[in-house]
Amino acid sequence: MRTGCSLLVAVLAVLLGSSTAYFKPDLQSAYNFTVLKTYNKSTLYRIEANSSYDNAPLLVDLHGSRYEMGYAYGAMMADEVMFVYNAFLDSLLSSFINSTMGLDVAKDIIGAICDWQAKRDLFTELPAVYQQELAGITAAGNDHGQPDLGKAIERVLVLANMPGDIPDFIYVLIREYFGDAVADAIGKPVPSHVAFRGRNLDWTKDSGMNRYKLVTVFHPEDGFAHATVGFAPMWGAITGMSSQGITVHEANLEENRITFDGFPWALRLRYIMENARNLTEAKALWEATNNTVGFNHMVGSASDSLIQGRPAALVMETMHNYTAFFHDNDPREINATIDIKNKTYVIGEAIPDAVWRTNHGYDPEIREHFEWSMSPSSSTVFRYFIIHDALKQYEAEGQEISLAQMVNITAVVGNKGDTRDEFYTCADTTAGSNVVSVAFAPNSLTMAAAWERSTGDNWRPASCSTYIELNMNIWF
Ligand SMILES: *[C@@H]1O[C@H](CO)[C@@H](O)[C@H](O)[C@H]1NC(C)=O
Ligand SMILES: *[C@@H]1O[C@H](CO)[C@@H](O)[C@H](O)[C@H]1NC(C)=O
Ligand SMILES: *[C@@H]1O[C@H](CO)[C@@H](O)[C@H](O)[C@H]1NC(C)=O
Ligand SMILES: *[C@@H]1O[C@H](CO)[C@@H](O)[C@H](O)[C@H]1NC(C)=O
Ligand SMILES: *[C@@H]1O[C@H](CO)[C@@H](O)[C@H](O)[C@H]1NC(C)=O
Ligand SMILES: *[C@@H]1O[C@H](CO)[C@@H](O)[C@H](O)[C@H]1NC(C)=O
Ligand SMILES: *[C@@H]1O[C@H](CO)[C@@H](O)[C@H](O)[C@H]1NC(C)=O
Ligand SMILES: *[C@@H]1O[C@H](CO)[C@@H](O)[C@H](O)[C@H]1NC(C)=O
Ligand SMILES: *[C@@H]1O[C@H](CO)[C@@H](O)[C@H](O)[C@H]1NC(C)=O
Ligand SMILES: *[C@@H]1O[C@H](CO)[C@@H](O)[C@H](O)[C@H]1NC(C)=O
Repeated sequence: MRTGCSLLVAVLAVLLGSSTAYFKPDLQSAYNFTVLKTYNKSTLYRIEANSSYDNAPLLVDLHGSRYEMGYAYGAMMADEVMFVYNAFLDSLLSSFINSTMGLDVAKDIIGAICDWQAKRDLFTELPAVYQQELAGITAAGNDHGQPDLGKAIERVLVLANMPGDIPDFIYVLIREYFGDAVADAIGKPVPSHVAFRGRNLDWTKDSGMNRYKLVTVFHPEDGFAHATVGFAPMWGAITGMSSQGITVHEANLEENRITFDGFPWALRLRYIMENARNLTEAKALWEATNNTVGFNHMVGSASDSLIQGRPAALVMETMHNYTAFFHDNDPREINATIDIKNKTYVIGEAIPDAVWRTNHGYDPEIREHFEWSMSPSSSTVFRYFIIHDALKQYEAEGQEISLAQMVNITAVVGNKGDTRDEFYTCADTTAGSNVVSVAFAPNSLTMAAAWERSTGDNWRPASCSTYIELNMNIWF
């Protein structure tokens, strides 16, 4: 779940060029929206495009009070949400449980843990508006033959907040049950890059999620309209954009200082989108709320870039009780190094007017608590430099980076397999783990979204599927 990361790249400057590209993402426009269902003022559409998907992505346009938006979503999508929720849990658990009975028992246990976490920690800081939305969803589920609907939506928010690695997760539970002293005494779980990579793939790809690929457009009466890109049961934002040209992003950052006692990040990203007009406001909102597990987050802002005359974004490297904020060309990132066996390797090369992250941090405190062992050949470092090189190439070619170029950079770093070469090609295989890939052009309120495609032997990563261009001016 946590690796369905949109790329954290905000590009700013003028670049892009002639394309001798051997990797050319498939970018198509949404040309029509077919009405599938309506409920009061809200509507569920199928996005028509010349795409490679066997099930076309959907767009749900929600209006009304918080409760009404939640209710409309539940009324129109109850069966879809439950279908995906069950498929996702089966897929998640079947990697280590192989009997039907064991699976059902494990699903109940996971459900109970999630419900308990939601009550005890994760939802205690949740602003009332989101509680009202969840109440609407729950009521709609009860009225439409899916009494577990509200719980399923909440559990997905909790699962999204779980660390990407099982030892990490156990570590959180120890901290929660026995307190900081015991957790600190145990120390950090042994990092295992290899184990993470394997589990990572099993956790995320081909989980059943992609049956209902979804763009959700919220029109809160007390906040800015905003859209999220993901899958039916995800009520929060993996990534998204607001009517103010604020974009939000996340990427894994495995830290050993983590907690459930904070604002569930997927709803926190919506909170930023619906309340912030610019980066100053986004930062203030971030600082007034609490982190949970480690993440690299980013907020992009169209209004700041108009003022500065260059693109603007803020990266937040986070862990429990600590956030390191970064703009472009930060001294902590410029020429950052790691030492391995008495040799020094450069792992950072900041560029003025560009901010991006993969799955590691540059703040010293964040680096101190990082779980993964890192080398110059680590995938996260390799991808960091792919982006760096692409930006420099565009700059050298003197061409502006617009949506098509953002799509290109985003698509190149999407995981398509285990070797370095595979970043640049789409092999006709099930290799890779990239489930969602979205590029934004916030100044024009447009975005391009791609999802993992098909299932089983036909599964393909998002970055090798179709990016569908959406003009969000229509929806905000
Ligand atoms: C797309 O990215 C690849 C890899 O960085 C690059 O070689 C190519 O020139 C880019 N193409 C376009 C159209 O920007
Ligand atoms: C768009 O969808 C509507 C409703 O299904 C249909 O009548 C119309 O022909 C479609 N337009 C295009 C350009 O496909
Ligand atoms: C649809 O996409 C395919 C593959 O990208 C392309 O060959 C075809 O020309 C496209 N059709 C239209 C109507 O755009
Ligand atoms: C649906 O609309 C009706 C009529 O405006 C309103 O009374 C009702 O509260 C709405 N229900 C929901 C759940 O939005
Ligand atoms: C279930 O997993 C166990 C342990 O990995 C294995 O020994 C057993 O053969 C598996 N059973 C089935 C039906 O796959
Ligand atoms: C951010 O928005 C607030 C409210 O509109 C405004 O007062 C402030 O000057 C803006 N800051 C920047 C840096 O644009
Ligand atoms: C954030 O955490 C601190 C320390 O636990 C707590 O005092 C504060 O109320 C929390 N903030 C919010 C918005 O809940
Ligand atoms: C958070 O960190 C500050 C130091 O930056 C420390 O004083 C405070 O006790 C910490 N709070 C919690 C809840 O860990
Ligand atoms: C970063 O490294 C490059 C190449 O070694 C060097 O030219 C540059 O001065 C360094 N920049 C800083 C800020 O240390
Ligand atoms: C690293 O340097 C130290 C002291 O300079 C030396 O004792 C040690 O053998 C070196 N280790 C390696 C792996 O080169």
